[in-house]
Amino acid sequence: HSYQVILLAAGQGKRMKAGRNKQFLMIAGTPLLIHTLRVFEEDSLCKEILLVVNERETQEINDLIRSFQLEGKVRFVSGGKERQDSVANGLSAAAQSGPDDIVFIHDAARPFVMREYLHRLSAAAFEEGGAILAVPVKDTVKEVDGIEITKTTDRSRLWLAQTPQAFRYSVIAEAHARAAQEDHIGTDDASLVEYIGGRVTIVEGNYENFKVTTPEDMMFAEAVIKHRLEGGKE
Ligand code: CTP
Ligand code: MG
Repeated sequence: HSYQVILLAAGQGKRMKAGRNKQFLMIAGTPLLIHTLRVFEEDSLCKEILLVVNERETQEINDLIRSFQLEGKVRFVSGGKERQDSVANGLSAAAQSGPDDIVFIHDAARPFVMREYLHRLSAAAFEEGGAILAVPVKDTVKEVDGIEITKTTDRSRLWLAQTPQAFRYSVIAEAHARAAQEDHIGTDDASLVEYIGGRVTIVEGNYENFKVTTPEDMMFAEAVIKHRLEGGKE
């Protein structure tokens, strides 16, 4: 099933401590943002990329994506203060969508999502109304008060939420509208749908689709590219 993607690139990358938005950092000689854009540019099911950016970076990003000839499906949208505001702006820009159209919401900081997962996700979102990529938690998770462990959670039921998160347009638009009305802040988009009692399912993804967040993630990012080049894997 075809989809539109809201690609979130309007953050500041504070935890990366690079002195600038992490999406401009190089991975194997190519800016992070370009790696992410390529995935969606090359996916035939992706009809449009709503690229949400900080207005101050619009010119630089525009020049960059033109130099890589990736501007074909891109429409620029202005970002907001928090991630949730940036998503809301993306949804407004997607407002001409029909209620059953599928909208993906994806962090530009996750450059390694693979096409097969995008296709599984769009099918699941169309059937279920909402679906996200997620991976099983590998470590045991402790709840702690000060330094004392108060609870050990049953790991078999814990999953780490990734993006893309995919929804029928009507579902995610309603969830964001309600959150705005009630000043509710969620940590991801699925949680806003959960908040209004909507059903969201998971599609098992892979660990390569991590979010480039802190300095050592750049080392892991280089390793993913190297592995793919060696293994001949896209
Ligand atoms: N993002 C956004 N608008 C915001 C905040 C974040 O579009 N107001 C985007 C980021 O550009 C990123 C994605 O949301 O691609 C995931 O957020 P995160 O990893 O937290 O990135 P940053 O907010 O840029 O990083 P940090 O929190 O370390 O400052
Ligand atoms: Mg952030």
